[in-house]
Amino acid sequence: MALSIDFTYLDQMISPARRREIAPEILAAQKTLLGKSGAGSDFLGWLDPAALNSPGELSRLEACAERLAAQSGAVLVVGIGGSYLGARAAVEYLVSPLYNSIPKKTPDLWFVGNDVSASHLAEVLSACRGQEISVIVISKSGTTTEPAVAFRVLKKELARRYGGDAASHVVAITDRARGALLAMARAEGYETFVIPDDVGGRFSVLTPVGLLPIALAGVDVRSLIAGAADAASFCASPDFDSNICLQYAAARNLLLRAGRSVELFCGWNPCFTMTAEWLKQLFGESEGKDHKGLFPASAAFTTDLHSLGQFIQDGSRILFETVVSIGEDTASLSVEAEDGDPDGLNYLAGMPLGEINHRAERAVAMAHRSGGTPSIILTTPSRSAYEYGWMLYFFEFACGVSGYTLGVNPFDQPGVEDYKKNMFALLGKPGYEALAAQLSNK
Ligand code: PA5
Repeated sequence: MALSIDFTYLDQMISPARRREIAPEILAAQKTLLGKSGAGSDFLGWLDPAALNSPGELSRLEACAERLAAQSGAVLVVGIGGSYLGARAAVEYLVSPLYNSIPKKTPDLWFVGNDVSASHLAEVLSACRGQEISVIVISKSGTTTEPAVAFRVLKKELARRYGGDAASHVVAITDRARGALLAMARAEGYETFVIPDDVGGRFSVLTPVGLLPIALAGVDVRSLIAGAADAASFCASPDFDSNICLQYAAARNLLLRAGRSVELFCGWNPCFTMTAEWLKQLFGESEGKDHKGLFPASAAFTTDLHSLGQFIQDGSRILFETVVSIGEDTASLSVEAEDGDPDGLNYLAGMPLGEINHRAERAVAMAHRSGGTPSIILTTPSRSAYEYGWMLYFFEFACGVSGYTLGVNPFDQPGVEDYKKNMFALLGKPGYEALAAQLSNK
């Protein structure tokens, strides 16, 4: 098991016996998920990570990453939501949150098309001046406005730089059969990868959507998939007492029923910041419907102890924390003794920063529990691709089980579609005239 769970800082509020009491409900939700008998069951392709990519497609993906790396100093990854967050989260977690600034043999990666900011796109282009560039454009629907607008700007840049050879600098990842992006890819001759029909955006990190950019950063994507595949066997067990994924789902559902409406995902390393963003999308889009669900938020510790810390300790009692602790970091630094002890820190002499961080984790969990904010602590041994794949799947499965326990369809996102349609209408997209008229009457 590549992840462990500690309920020490929750037990006072939600006892093990209470969690056990709702095991039948949680097991029923797990059965619905695995039996593909619930709402949204057309979108369960992610349940089997080993089957998501055929061996041939995985080898082609790795070859494509090598080709792009050989021809580019920087690769611009265009996508939004599920077509962006997983890749960026994995690169920052597994390589570095400072990925573009560290010495490396792999190309810089810039994530664009996840906003409509002119200055952001212009700044990225200016950062790539003097480097050869390629573009990976990712959109399942092939019509989302933000990435489509960014891609149109980038196509111009590629044509200016590479003329008739521009198409060899583009890879498109989209639906197998429909959408403007697919039509463009066919017309221009871009290399393409398919987003499986039965995988929604926020569950797509282990499809080419996440894997191609992650492979470009030099990560062993096969280990990532192997971790997720092992987690899949683990999470499928109906033994509630040993299945920590089911226990986590039980705890968070009970916390919601007890009036804790915000789940704060807390990391203790900046490498986790974008993974927390991925978690916010995963749980927010999956559970936040029919006026139900936990609101997912995040905090980076110890940084945010100096901003949100006061509220967590002593503000409205609406929160609980899900903490992700990393056993061993990728670097080790220690506090050294200094003559005269000018800053009074010699009591820490010889202590690794990792140990200081771990002691801070415990100190904070104790303080927050005394203040009335409970925590669930998940610990992953290290920052390896295998363990990260395991953790991603753990959260995806917990999300599916939690959503069914809550009584929502965890696999659609009607709220996201609503804003997309309104945006088309207000921008004057053909076919949206009636909606535009309705909106202008409002
Ligand atoms: O999870 C989802 O389905 C959404 O967040 C989508 O990923 C996001 O809206 C982007 O959609 P698309 O890939 O169609 O451009």
